[in-house]
Amino acid sequence: MARLGPGRLAGKTAIVTGGARGIGRHYSQALAAEGARVMIADIADGKTLAEEIAGRHGAEAIASVKFDVSDEKAVKNLVAQTIEHFGQIDVLVNNAAVYSTLTPRSFNEWDTDLWDKVMAVNVRGSYLMVRHVAPHMVERRSGKIINIASGAPYKGVPRMLPYVTSKGAILAFTRALSRELGQYGIAVNSLSPGYILSDTGLQNATHVEEERVPVRNSRAFKRDAYPEDLLGALVFLASSDSDFVTGQSLVVDGGAVNN
Ligand SMILES: NC(=O)c1ccc[n+]([C@@H]2O[C@H](COP(=O)([O-])OP(=O)(O)OC[C@H]3O[C@@H](n4cnc5c(N)ncnc54)[C@H](O)[C@@H]3O)[C@@H](O)[C@H]2O)c1
Repeated sequence: MARLGPGRLAGKTAIVTGGARGIGRHYSQALAAEGARVMIADIADGKTLAEEIAGRHGAEAIASVKFDVSDEKAVKNLVAQTIEHFGQIDVLVNNAAVYSTLTPRSFNEWDTDLWDKVMAVNVRGSYLMVRHVAPHMVERRSGKIINIASGAPYKGVPRMLPYVTSKGAILAFTRALSRELGQYGIAVNSLSPGYILSDTGLQNATHVEEERVPVRNSRAFKRDAYPEDLLGALVFLASSDSDFVTGQSLVVDGGAVNN
């Protein structure tokens, strides 16, 4: 039965990759505010955010680990630490990605090392997380996996080819994985944000210049979007409110693409 109202994630434990900054920071805060215990897992240091969340929701609500999602040993270690600290994993948010640091460029100007890095973090990283988290969910016959994709593969956004390709892979990964994990009661969905003005995004002047106005004009709701716009959809996918939803991509972009 769906449990409505605040504290919809009470008693649950979530891992948010890339949860220390950018949009992920808001995901970590929102899940904790709904009563979840949250492991912030990021290549950046999540200690300051963890202290802030602990101040609001109690020290037992939060932990952080610095790790590289593309490194299998580091992923194994993160998962072991999460189980040791919280005893279980109910929700996995695959949010870490190489995105805001990328400078848009033409299709033939992408260095192959950078192409490989985008794929290693955005695609292999999501796979490695599932590879090591899903067995715990299978054992308990429940879990929610939320893969952060993007509106970009729907639109075919130009000048960000490896990124858009990686997020297209995440949509396919979500569909295929949902069919393997459904038998264990595990939901696998993706959340596809439109262009979001996050703190990290605003640091990339080229993105802001190339995206902000055209994206706003492409929306049914003609306004800028902020991390807060994504939180209702995230909590929905993480909570029992979405218990019969799997293999889907929820596009949250003010109506720019029709999914
Ligand atoms: N900002 C947008 O407009 C937008 C739109 C659609 C989708 N998205 C997606 O939403 C997610 C968050 O976006 P954002 O704007 O905060 O991006 P971002 O690039 O600012 O942040 C990504 C996060 O991942 C972390 N990270 C990067 N490499 C890592 C690694 N190797 N190991 C572990 N952590 C790593 C970063 O430290 C950061 O916390 C990404 O998956 C992005 O693709 C963003």
